[in-house]
Parts: sequence; C-alpha cells; structure tokens
Amino acid sequence: MDAAKQTILCVDDELVNLKVLDAVLSPRGYQVIMTQNPREVSSIVEKKPVDLILLDVMMPEMDGYTVCRHIKENPQTRHIPVVMITVLSSKEDRIKGIDAGADDFITKPFDQELVLARVRMLLKMKSLNDRLNHGYHNIIRLTSFGEEILKDFSAKDFRFFEILSGVVKQVLRQSGDIQDNPLIVIVGTSHKKHWEWYQFESAFNELYQTRLNIRIQESLALPAPGDSQVMFFNEGESGESRLRDLVRMLESESLLSVRNGIGYLSPELCVFSLNYGRDVTVYDASVLKSLVMQSLFLKSLSNQILETEDALEHTVRALVRASEANDEDKGNHVIRVGAFSALLAETLGMPGSFVRSIWLQAQMHDVGMVRIPAQILRKAGTLSDTEKAVIRKHPLFGAEIIGSHPRFRMARSIALTHHERWDGSGYPHNLKGEKIPIEGRIVCLADHYDSMRRTRSYKPAMSHEQAVHVILEGDESCRPDHFDPRILKAFRLALDRFASLFRRLEDPPAVRRS
Ligand SMILES: [Fe+2]
Ligand SMILES: [Fe+2]
Repeated sequence: MDAAKQTILCVDDELVNLKVLDAVLSPRGYQVIMTQNPREVSSIVEKKPVDLILLDVMMPEMDGYTVCRHIKENPQTRHIPVVMITVLSSKEDRIKGIDAGADDFITKPFDQELVLARVRMLLKMKSLNDRLNHGYHNIIRLTSFGEEILKDFSAKDFRFFEILSGVVKQVLRQSGDIQDNPLIVIVGTSHKKHWEWYQFESAFNELYQTRLNIRIQESLALPAPGDSQVMFFNEGESGESRLRDLVRMLESESLLSVRNGIGYLSPELCVFSLNYGRDVTVYDASVLKSLVMQSLFLKSLSNQILETEDALEHTVRALVRASEANDEDKGNHVIRVGAFSALLAETLGMPGSFVRSIWLQAQMHDVGMVRIPAQILRKAGTLSDTEKAVIRKHPLFGAEIIGSHPRFRMARSIALTHHERWDGSGYPHNLKGEKIPIEGRIVCLADHYDSMRRTRSYKPAMSHEQAVHVILEGDESCRPDHFDPRILKAFRLALDRFASLFRRLEDPPAVRRS
C-alpha cells in the first residue's frame, strides 16, 4: 500500500454502489477499500490505517448507525471521520446519525462533485487532527524520555553519543507512525576537528547504527562557534537549496535516495533527519532542533559539573596539604585513607555516590591537626597526658574548620567521629555502636590500618600481615571490638586489595624514613 495515499473505506451492501464510489475516488488518487459486510468494518479499521469511511445506512446485516457507533466507541478508531450515505433525509434520521457519531451526511443518489468536496474537506480535517495528535504524542514521548535522562543523570557517567542515540531513537520512524517520522537519521560529530559520521535506522523497534565513511564536512559551510542553523526541504519545492546540495552529496556518498529532510548544523554536531512519510514543515524542524539542543544542554551541564567537581577535589587537597604544615610526616596518608575508606564502602555494598563521597571527604579527616602546636606534633618521645589531651581535640577542631556546608556534611561527620570506637571507648564523645555514623566507623578502620603501616618518628612501620593481625586479633592498644563487626567482615573480604592499594599509593622514599 502506498503510504502517501489516503485510504477510504466504503461500506455498502450493494456492490453496484461500491463500484460507483470506487470509480469516483480511485482516479483521484485515493486508496479505496470496499466491503459489503458491515460486520467486517471493525476488524478492517483495526488492521489498516483508514482515513475516512463512507457508510451506507440501510443494510440487512447491521445498519449504518450501529456500525458508526462501534467505530466511535473504540478509542483506536474514533478519530476516523464517518460520512453516512443514505436515502433517508428526515430530521429524525439525521439526529439518529449525529447521535451515533456521524461526521457528515450525503443523500442518495449523490452528486459526484459534492462527494469529492466533502471527502477532501474531511480528509483535510483528519490530517490536521492527526498532526495535532502526533504533536501531542511527540511531546509526551519526548517529555518522558527527558525525565528518564534526568532521573539517571550522572555527570561522571555522561556519554554524549549515548544520549544522542536515545534522542535519534525517539525521532526515528517506529511501526505505527508511518507518516510523521523520518526513516533515516545521519549524525556527524566532531572532536578536535576530526569528524565521525553515523547512520541510524530503526527496524522492529531496534535502532541500527552504521559508521559511514563519508567526508561531507569538508563541503559544509558550518556556522560560527556558538551558532547553529536548521533548514528543511521537500522534493519538488523551492526550499532550502543549501540543504538540497548537501543531500545530493549524502546521496552520492551513502547510496541514499532522499525525498525530504531537515538539517541541523553546528560547528561540532550535524544531524540530518531524512525521508519523512510526508512533506516536512517548520514544525518538524523545530522539534529536531529542540531535541538536539536538549542533548547539547546536558553535555554542557555535565562538563560544567565535572569542572566544578575537579575544582572541589583540588580545593580539598589544598586544604589537606595546608593542614599538614605542622606535621613532618607528610606523604600519601590522607590519600590512602580516602582510598581504603572507598574500598570498605564498596565492599559493604554502599551506593556509588557514597563510595565517591567518602573517597574524597575522608581525606579531610585530620584537618583539625592544623590547630595542634607543632612542638606536640613533632615530638619524638612519648607524649604527656596533657599533650595527649590537646591532640584529642583535633576531631572537634576539624569539624569546626570544615563547617556546616551540606556538600561537606560527610567530611565534617568523619572529622568529628573517626576516633570514636564501636565499644564506646573512643573520643571526643565516647559514642557507641551505631550512634557513630557509618562514615566515621569506616574511616576509623581505614585510618588505623594505614597508621600502622606508616613509619612515624616514634614508631616503625608494620607489614600488611602485622597490621591485619592487630586489627583482627588485637594488641595492647587496639582490640577488634573497637570496630563495627560488619566493617571488620568487609575488611577481611578486602585484605588483598588493601595490600595492593597500599603498595600502589606508598609514600615516595624521601618521605618513608626507616
Ligand atoms: Fe585523626
Ligand atoms: Fe589519619
């Protein structure tokens, strides 16, 4: 069936009447389907796209009013205009027809010109109505697609091409809407002036993507950076000649035959949406443009978020380095504590966002040390009780320095609670069990393990095996019940990864003192 032809279903129990209608309509380019059986109408309109029904009223099997009512009661078919062709012309008969949902009436014997004029008018209305419906469905489909993207949006995992492919899938012709969507979309993206071209087609609700070996970018007069251009053309119309020239190039390079299309051009992205089932309009061009803009907006948003995240990491590191000014044992301690904490969080099955946060925010666990006098921090011998009490203030100082910004809620909590112990023997608040926030419990173990592995002015470094033994079995200063049993279990599961992470992030020799 020719998709561009409009289809008219003629229903009449008399074959001769059907033949007359066919003789009037077929030569005018309409696709005519005929049936003498009114009971068949529902199944025909459900299976085939019908644009108009010409319906006899007086039929022995089922009258036209009943047929019309069935069509208008079905949400799938109620939009199809129905014209009743009848010898009945009384007011009551007309009212009965209107009540059944008929859109128009023609009295038998009919005048050919009048039939054609009514058919043209109703088909035009149907086509406008279809366009409106399609636009409405397009808006709903695109809105829910946009919602899906935003729901799963993550700047770190953002892949522009994947988003663009998703958009293309929304645009491409699906089964059912044979008129209003393109058959092919060609996308060109440029990265550092290197262009890659892809052709997208959809079949059986699957998206097929093929890399194209074309070089049309050399002939494209692209707009200036920051600008974009949208144009459309229909075969046989004096439309946008530049797009037509481009399409000719695409045809010669990709063996396509193009009847109509829309082009979106910008210095880093070109999209050609081709071969719609009907002529394209400025409306189609603006739909394509807004979809492309939506993808570009997300790309720019993700770049900006990544840049901000990068700046944040940089600032955290700067703060940590500044806080180590009084500590002669610099090196990678804070970086390793961040990495071990993330490893424990991951092993515990915490969400990805928590793992990423603890990786960065655990690095600030000891920022409060900046307020501890250098002579205490650098003292080689044993600390007096007073000096120990001063050091034990660093969690409070840390929480104060970090402050109350929501973005650093976890960092503040870690700084404050990383010396609390599961059995309640820690400081500064002697918190016990789950009263200690999970991030504090995680960093407590990560910090212990790394502190034992480090060489300090007052102690040698332990091997991995020694440190594991102390944490799992205990010694004079450390007992397993200092730690949350769940976190100890995760530690046991991740022992090998602890050892290899330590090797990878080990301090440079100048910092490691024997
Ligand atoms: Fe600490
Ligand atoms: Fe530490």
